[in-house]
Amino acid sequence: MSTHRESKKTTVIDIQRQKGGAPLVCLTAYTSLTAQLLDDSTDLLLVGDSLGMVLYGLGDTLGVTLDMMIAHGKAVMRGSSTACVIVDMPFGSYQESPEVAFRNAARVMKEVGCAGIKLEGGTEMASTIEFLTHRGIPVLGHVGLLPQSVHTAGGFRSHGKDSGEATRILADAVAVAEAGAFAMVVEGTVEPLARRITETVPVPTIGIGASPACDGQILVTEDLVGLFTDFTPKFVKRYAELGQQIADAAKAYSADVRSGAFPGPEHCFAMRPAADTDDAPD
Ligand code: KIV
Repeated sequence: MSTHRESKKTTVIDIQRQKGGAPLVCLTAYTSLTAQLLDDSTDLLLVGDSLGMVLYGLGDTLGVTLDMMIAHGKAVMRGSSTACVIVDMPFGSYQESPEVAFRNAARVMKEVGCAGIKLEGGTEMASTIEFLTHRGIPVLGHVGLLPQSVHTAGGFRSHGKDSGEATRILADAVAVAEAGAFAMVVEGTVEPLARRITETVPVPTIGIGASPACDGQILVTEDLVGLFTDFTPKFVKRYAELGQQIADAAKAYSADVRSGAFPGPEHCFAMRPAADTDDAPD
């Protein structure tokens, strides 16, 4: 039995080495089917806790649990063969202490088999990131707009417009990189700050609403394909209108069922001709 895989998985080291090179292409994935569809086009698939809002209809990401992330992480791993799969740590699973973070992150790594985890936060999370990376858990950092801190940050808004806030976020990015993160998401920041962070830290920056000045880009897939339309942030470019197509398909199906046009004869199973049946004489 060969132990070689057909295709090679992208590792966190491959991602880290892409600093300053070809832009990193990253998307979120929550299911096996989506992972299969995105795998060829992406360097990294993030099982983001945005799934709480996009799949489960929650108002923010705070209600997402570790079990939800593990179940969706496993599904994405089944659908992905080459992309580097990273799983978000949900709110409450890592903030308490480095030890709690390690216990929960180790569970994710063991049960999902992903390449690493992502957690939100800057200087305040540096000791946790160091604790995890020194114990074999690759960490993708996340600075700027932190959706899990939306209640203390005063809602979803762009960050770094005033120089005090920009200085703090730059210090966050430096602390996250020095603590050993292999890359970091920079979310919702003004372009000059994203550029400054990207020029300063030695690891790739992956922007979402943070301008082209980053080393790569990430979007929530359902935003990109027009499936999640509750709210479309300014930084999202729609590449398809799947939500409208699904609604149109459901309308057409409903009309066909009600009028009797579906199912047609071509969708029905036929009896075998009498000669082929078991009880026909030989
Ligand atoms: O949860 C998520 O999908 C994320 C991305 C938006 C970066 O954190």
